[in-house]
Amino acid sequence: MATTSHSQIKRFGIGRIVEHQMNALVFAMLVITGLSQRFHEYRVSHWIIKTLGGVDTMRIIHRYSGLLFATLIVVHIAAGIYGVVKKHWPASMMINMNDFRNAIENLKYYFGITNHPALCDRYDYKQKFEYWGVIAGGFLMIATGLILWFPVEVARLLPGEFIPAAKAAHSNEALLAFLVIIIWHIYNSIFSPEVFPLDTAIFTGRISRERMVHEHPLELANIENVPVEEIVKHHHAARPSEGE
Ligand code: HEM
Repeated sequence: MATTSHSQIKRFGIGRIVEHQMNALVFAMLVITGLSQRFHEYRVSHWIIKTLGGVDTMRIIHRYSGLLFATLIVVHIAAGIYGVVKKHWPASMMINMNDFRNAIENLKYYFGITNHPALCDRYDYKQKFEYWGVIAGGFLMIATGLILWFPVEVARLLPGEFIPAAKAAHSNEALLAFLVIIIWHIYNSIFSPEVFPLDTAIFTGRISRERMVHEHPLELANIENVPVEEIVKHHHAARPSEGE
């Protein structure tokens, strides 16, 4: 395959792109309508509550956005299981021993002990950590959200303590998820020097070959059907080696 440093590689299909944008919108809605209940004493929360038509309307928006969020997660998991089992998609988000090895290799690289970063596959260990955080956090938010939505029914089945516990977990996990997205995810997709001013891959579905060499060399070797050493040869040669 003839390639130049400017060539683009397909990374995401339309399904993944639409799914990401829907998740981003629904998550933003949940954060706005949820955190302005938790921090109701702030002026900005007053403004949000008034703009959305009062606290009762905002609570309804929050609950139905929550249902949409739950639907997105359930469809995602069902489609993933169907794809892997029936259509033999590679289970590229599964955590394996290479992720731990790659993390150690990257630490060595950052400390200057080796002269090349870890050779990662389609998703690296940081991306997997974020992905599984969303899935685990999503389940927690759905379960605790449903408990807060139907407290009377829940109290018939479970001890009453579950309701304040669900509220504490829902409220604090919300803040944690918001901070992870703002600090980690937005940094990686907008402010990181590797992608600034914006990583457009989730909009265009394409990524530069140069970034693939740097970030996902194993996947690129697979796509181009060459050994990974061939992929990273020039890249590593261009980097300062140990002791230089
Ligand atoms: C990641 C997504 C979510 C975020 C960031 C979020 C955030 C929040 C926050 C901050 C609160 C206020 C808690 C407090 O007063 O301290 C809240 C309340 C609530 N949330 Fe969520 N939430 C999310 C998902 C959900 C889901 C999936 C559901 C339902 C299935 C849900 C249902 C509720 C309910 C019922 C309340 C109590 C307030 C009310 O009665 O409307 N939330 N949420």
